[in-house]
Amino acid sequence: MSRELWTSVDDYVTELFVPPDKALASALKASRAAGLPGIQVTPSEGKLLFMLAKMNHARNILEIGTLGGYSAIWLGRALPKGGKLITLEFDAKHADVARKNIERAGLSKVVEIRLGKAMDTLPRLAKEKAGPFDLFFIDADKPNNTNYFNWALKLSRPGSLIIVDNVVRSGAVIDPKSKDESVQGVRKFNKAMAAEPRVMAVEIQTVGSKGYDGMAFALVTS
Ligand code: SAH
Ligand code: DHB
Ligand code: MG
Repeated sequence: MSRELWTSVDDYVTELFVPPDKALASALKASRAAGLPGIQVTPSEGKLLFMLAKMNHARNILEIGTLGGYSAIWLGRALPKGGKLITLEFDAKHADVARKNIERAGLSKVVEIRLGKAMDTLPRLAKEKAGPFDLFFIDADKPNNTNYFNWALKLSRPGSLIIVDNVVRSGAVIDPKSKDESVQGVRKFNKAMAAEPRVMAVEIQTVGSKGYDGMAFALVTS
């Protein structure tokens, strides 16, 4: 089994279930042209985020890690009239590219990009009483995953869904001695989420065009 096969199958299921889309395609094109890293979620993962937001009837979504706005477009599209997505990004260039992509997707009124380190923005959101959020997508600097998860809990309500990307890292996550600070960040987060009594949680391994990784899902229960 190889990345080549995972990519071929990913292409096959994407063609079946994720029809070509102008705004998403041009977001990817503009992101590539601007030199952004191609680390956005895959089309199938984007649609999964969209469906989960729909299933949870999310009206208020918080994303941590915007990049070019690809996942934000998927999540923004899931919102009902009057719904809102706030997405946090600390790289001004990424935020600029995302702003244009979100504009082209017709979501400028729905998606708000907050520029700055997420750990600075999160306390401000709390102070503003921007929560509770119905769905969170945590997808930024992995060493802060546990901090972001704790902030998500603070800004949640029973029934909120917390989704965390990249929790398997090509399997590196099982190495307790890993020198990779992202791996250590994910390991610390996994342990914290597993021990957190206010959620029920699960993680799913994924393979596809982005290689071998995984996503975590935590449902806030109290
Ligand atoms: N969710 C996006 C991909 C995000 S990639 C998608 O799927 O389309 C991770 C992003 O997090 C990058 O743009 C990076 O600049 C941003 N980031 C990294 N550290 C951050 C921090 N401390 N605060 C806010 N954003 C951060
Ligand atoms: C990386 C970050 C991501 O959010 C992702 O989906 C894939 C890779 C990274 O930092 O390497
Ligand atoms: Mg990611």
